[in-house]
Amino acid sequence: MKYYLVTLILIGLYACGANSELNKIEKDQFAEAKSLYASNCASCHGQQMAMFVDRNWKHGSDPDSLALSIKKGYPDDGMPAFEALFSEEQVQELVKYITYGIDNRESFSFDDPFNPDTIFETDGLKYRLELISDEVDVPWGYAFLPDNSMLITDISGELYHRSVEGELQEIGNVPEVVHAGQGGLMDVELDPDFETNNLVYISYSKGKDDKQTTAVIRAKLGEKQLEDVTEIFEALPYLSTRHHYGGRLEFDPDGYLMITVGDRGRRDDNPQSLENHCGKVHRINSDGSIPQDNPFVGQANAMESIYSYGHRNPQGLIYDADRGIMWEHEHGPRGGDELNIVRKGENFGWPVVSFGINYNGTTFTNKTEMEGMTEPEKYWVPSIAPCGMALVYSDLYPEWKGDLLIGSLRFKYVTKVSEDMSEVSMLKNIGRVRNVKLDREGYIYVSVEEPGAIYKLIPILEN
Ligand code: HEC
Repeated sequence: MKYYLVTLILIGLYACGANSELNKIEKDQFAEAKSLYASNCASCHGQQMAMFVDRNWKHGSDPDSLALSIKKGYPDDGMPAFEALFSEEQVQELVKYITYGIDNRESFSFDDPFNPDTIFETDGLKYRLELISDEVDVPWGYAFLPDNSMLITDISGELYHRSVEGELQEIGNVPEVVHAGQGGLMDVELDPDFETNNLVYISYSKGKDDKQTTAVIRAKLGEKQLEDVTEIFEALPYLSTRHHYGGRLEFDPDGYLMITVGDRGRRDDNPQSLENHCGKVHRINSDGSIPQDNPFVGQANAMESIYSYGHRNPQGLIYDADRGIMWEHEHGPRGGDELNIVRKGENFGWPVVSFGINYNGTTFTNKTEMEGMTEPEKYWVPSIAPCGMALVYSDLYPEWKGDLLIGSLRFKYVTKVSEDMSEVSMLKNIGRVRNVKLDREGYIYVSVEEPGAIYKLIPILEN
C-alpha cells in the first residue's frame, strides 16, 4: 500500500512541478493569451495549450499560418473564424503563446501514469487499469462478441476484430468513409440476435459529390470481411460541412435501431425542421424500414424515421433496462452540453433553448426553457465535450451500480453520474475519452484517442 502511495505522490509531484513552471511563465508573459485561450479555444482544443500543440500540424505551425487559422478558421470542419472577435494584437498574442508551446513541446511530455501498479479510487471503490490495446489510433466504437472478443472501429476507416488473446485482425469490405473533420468510421453495434444471424450495424460518414452525410450499413460479419453489406439509413441532405455527424447506435428493448445524427453545423436550418434528418434521434427497423408507430409517420413532409428532434451533436446513447429509459447526451456550443432522456416525438430545443453561447462569445438565445421543449436532466457549463456512455449494471463495481459513466474529450476524464445527477470525475488525464462500454462479463472499458488506447477497469475488492 505504501508503495502505491509513494508512486502516486511522485506522479503528482512530477505533474505539479512541470505545471507550476509552465504556469509561472504563462502568468508572467502570456496572461492575456492564456485567458483568451481558456475562454475561446479550450472547449474544443482541451484545457492545456501544451497538449493542443502536441499534434501533426495540418495547416502549418509558423506564425503566419497560425494567425491565418485563427482569423479565418475552418468553418466546414468546425473551427470558427475569430477575426471579427479578436484585435490583430490579440491574434498575435495567441500566436506567440502557441509558438512558445510548440518550442517547448518536449518539456510538456510526461510518462504514462497508467502503469499497472497504479491504484485509483472513486466513491469508495479501488481499481486499476489494464491496457487492452494501443494499436488503434482513434477507437471510436466497439462491441463485444459472444466470446467477449471485440469489434473496434478506427475513425480513419478501418474495422478490427480483436481476439480475447489480443490478436488484431483487420476486417475487409468496409464502406469507404470521408475521413475529414469529425468524419470517418464511427459506431459498431451487434444485432440483438447476433448469435443466430451474425449481423452487425456500422455508422460512418458517406461522401457524394464533395458533400457528406451520416449513413448506416448492416452486414454479416465474416471471418475476414463484411458480407451482404446493405445500406439501411442515409441522413439527408448531404452537406459540405464535415462535423456534427452524431453516429451513435443503440438498440431499444423492442429491437428497433436508434441512430443519432448531429445538426451538421447548420444550427438554424436543421434541428427544428422535421423535413431533414439532421439534429435528430432516429428509430428504424433493423432492415431500414420505418416502424409504423414512429411519432411523425404520415405527417406531411416529415422524415418518418425521426423519433426525437432539436438535438445538436449527440455522442452518447444507451438503453437503461432497469429504469426503462434511453439516455442520450450531446455537445452544446460553448457551455450547454446536455444529458437527456429520449422520448418519442419530443423536441429537445436546440437552438431555440440552450444553456450555451456561441464560440465567439456572442449569444444566440437567452432562453433555457420554453413550453413544448424538453429540458435536459443535466447540463454542463463549461462544456465537458461528452463522448461515449455506459451504464454500470454489473455487480463487479458494487459502489457504482446504476451510475452512468460518460467520457470527456475536453477534460480527459470520465465522469460518473449518479441517479440524483451528482457527478464525480475519475481517471483524470487518461486522454481524450472517445467511448466507455461494458463487456460481456460486465467489466468497464474506456477508450482514448491520439495516442489511442483501450483500458479495462479491474476492481480491487477487499474482503
Ligand atoms: C468549435 C471548436 C473549436 C474552437 C472553439 C476552436 N477551434 Fe481551432 N480547430 C477546430 C477544429 C475542428 C480544427 C481542425 C480543422 C481541420 O481539421 O482542418 C481546428 C484547427 C485549428 C488550428 C490549425 C491546426 C492545424 O493542425 O494546423 C489552429 C492553429 C487552431 N485551431 C487554433 C485555435 C485557437 C487559437 C482557438 C481559440 C481562439 C481555436 N482554435 C478555437 C475547432 C475549434
